[in-house]
Amino acid sequence: MKPGEPSRTAMGVALRRATHQLIDRPLVFDDPLAVTMLGEEMAQWLRADPRRGEARVAPRAMRAFLVARSRIAEDALRRAYDQGCRQYVVLGAGLDTFAYRQALADLRVFEVDQPWTQQWKRARLADVGISEPGSLTFVPVDFETEILATQLQRAGVDASRPVFFSWLGVSMYLTEAVVWHTLATVAAMTRSGGGITFDYGATVTGNNISHRLMAAALARRVAAAGEPFRSSFAPQVIADHLHRLGFIGIDDLDDDAMNARYFANRDDGLAVRGSGRIVTAWAG
Ligand SMILES: C[S@@+](CC[C@H](N)C(=O)[O-])C[C@H]1O[C@@H](n2cnc3c(N)ncnc32)[C@H](O)[C@@H]1O
Repeated sequence: MKPGEPSRTAMGVALRRATHQLIDRPLVFDDPLAVTMLGEEMAQWLRADPRRGEARVAPRAMRAFLVARSRIAEDALRRAYDQGCRQYVVLGAGLDTFAYRQALADLRVFEVDQPWTQQWKRARLADVGISEPGSLTFVPVDFETEILATQLQRAGVDASRPVFFSWLGVSMYLTEAVVWHTLATVAAMTRSGGGITFDYGATVTGNNISHRLMAAALARRVAAAGEPFRSSFAPQVIADHLHRLGFIGIDDLDDDAMNARYFANRDDGLAVRGSGRIVTAWAG
């Protein structure tokens, strides 16, 4: 990300979620604010021809992954909420709209993002007439240079109670050391009943040419947007690390598992394909 500029990949992800609302049926991720969040000009442009919102490389696979991860995170949050968790921290929130459309009683939401992106989002909210609910707290943090735990505590996150975290579309832009540090912070800041959903790029091994080509094409695009990928992990390394941090019930989904769970019996071909994985882990 260029200093002083909002995240361009946050806009790209928001565009795919909005496109999903307009062209895919049935919806995998229902987000009635996704199109509005694009801003008036882009929303009109997209409504006029929703196919314009498709990625150039592997459009359906890309959109499927992005909507699956939001759906998985919100399903897991709902599970945590039903067990009594009342704090939700959205790490690297981008243009995520959960806080503005949710109606779960007593749930406090904390949106963490790099300060420039957060300012840009708040200006966008004001422009499109979406009000900031009282249940939401903005926490400007740069994971690379600031101490997340301190900022969350200052913002009012109560680490003596369960906290659920989502961390979507962020880990791959950080170094391995920052990823481990962030997960350690999450582990320290929640209690049983809380947890995390996040996605990561699995290190591409073996002969899966399709995964290799997709990973390379995507890496080129995000690098061109000024936000290069900086980490990928073997799934076993992630699992071992999460266990060491005290997480249990680890559910790490690859493309086949996501397709079986969220994209079965469709006739439009919307399906995940690639090396991105989405993992949910619960505090022990
Ligand atoms: C691809 S976007 C994903 C946004 C959102 N989670 C979503 O799914 O729509 C990546 C997000 O990570 C944030 N981000 C990247 N590096 C960061 C850092 N070092 N500190 C804080 N946020 C960061 C960006 O500002 C951006 O909002």
